[in-house]
Amino acid sequence: MLSLLRPLLAVFLYLLLPGGQSRIPVYNNGFHYQDISNGNGNGEIYFNGVRLYVESPQPAVSATRGSSVTLPCHFHYEPELSTPRRTRVKWSWIPANSINAPVSPLASTSETEVMVAMGNRHRSYGGFKGRVRLRRSVPGDLSLVINELRLNDTGRYRCEVIDGLEDESATVELELRGVVFPYHSHRGRYHFNFFAAQQACQDQDATLATFEQLFTAWEEGLDWCNAGWLADGTVHYPITAPREGCGGIDLAPGVRSYGQRHRLIHQYDAFCFSASVKGIVYFLEQSAKLNFTEAFQACIRDGSQIAKVGQLYAAWRLMGLDRCDAGWLADGSVRYPITRPRANCGPPEPGVRSFGFLPAYMKFGVYCYR
Ligand SMILES: *[C@@H]1O[C@H](CO)[C@@H](O)[C@H](O)[C@H]1NC(C)=O
Ligand SMILES: *[C@@H]1O[C@H](CO)[C@@H](O)[C@H](O)[C@H]1NC(C)=O
Repeated sequence: MLSLLRPLLAVFLYLLLPGGQSRIPVYNNGFHYQDISNGNGNGEIYFNGVRLYVESPQPAVSATRGSSVTLPCHFHYEPELSTPRRTRVKWSWIPANSINAPVSPLASTSETEVMVAMGNRHRSYGGFKGRVRLRRSVPGDLSLVINELRLNDTGRYRCEVIDGLEDESATVELELRGVVFPYHSHRGRYHFNFFAAQQACQDQDATLATFEQLFTAWEEGLDWCNAGWLADGTVHYPITAPREGCGGIDLAPGVRSYGQRHRLIHQYDAFCFSASVKGIVYFLEQSAKLNFTEAFQACIRDGSQIAKVGQLYAAWRLMGLDRCDAGWLADGSVRYPITRPRANCGPPEPGVRSFGFLPAYMKFGVYCYR
């Protein structure tokens, strides 16, 4: 009996020794020991020290819309257990749009359940129903597989193991590869309250961008001097070249913030986020230019639909779509995508060039989506 406990005791003593502490990985704080005092009154205590580790080798995972992604997570015990314990696994999620949002004093947490598993039984929740499973490729593998990734699946995922005595967890951030674009109403600048902005992005096959997505876009060079809503209800705009009227020349480049604004009353533009689409976006080859009504019909005749703004941006950014012909889009705006800047195709940087919303009788080409 004693010979069996000695290594366990050694592990425990090691942990108590000065210096041993620094070897304890930061993600584990749950050292547990069980007092199995033999009760003979001599103050002898045997420690049954077993630690549960839950780890993710990858703190962030980036994926494409519509694909499957695996969020890695596994657990093990130290020292190893001879008989497996009954464990419960819970994956939960904080959506990207609420990671930075101020937590209301009434709502204790914005974390919601994705899946709970115990043995071979499991249950998934909400929008994850039927789209998630545990990988279980090796013992201890609790990696979460999510199928048919959606735009709004981004955020912080937590993998939690509960074995009755201990409760340990690790987190993994899920990001989608995509593109942020500014969007305003056909009525002009600053006509969206938060909910209208949300709807406008959705109508263009996109979603309101998160702060992280806008920040990444700014790092990649996005400069836009009109403020827009983000998914967490804040209002920002990204400036790479400081100038008057955009926060002034004394302010360093950065993402300028108006903070949280009133979601019903205040009106701004929107920053939308779009990720790769399954189909293709193409410029419809036509002998004559078309007014908006004709453009809409021409795509349908071609077995497609007139492309949405988010689809054109995704095709430009993620598929390299490059076409120096202005074309109608579903919202009544006229744009064209340039990845290789050249003479007579707009400014020297790549981008989606926009003529804004134009009268429907005017004649252009058209971008379709199939
Ligand atoms: C996420 O997007 C899907 C469609 O892709 C939608 O059905 C669902 O309501 C959205 N969920 C949230 C929380 O916005
Ligand atoms: C577009 O042209 C068609 C004729 O080809 C015409 O019937 C229609 O009214 C025009 N639409 C607009 C908005 O000008």
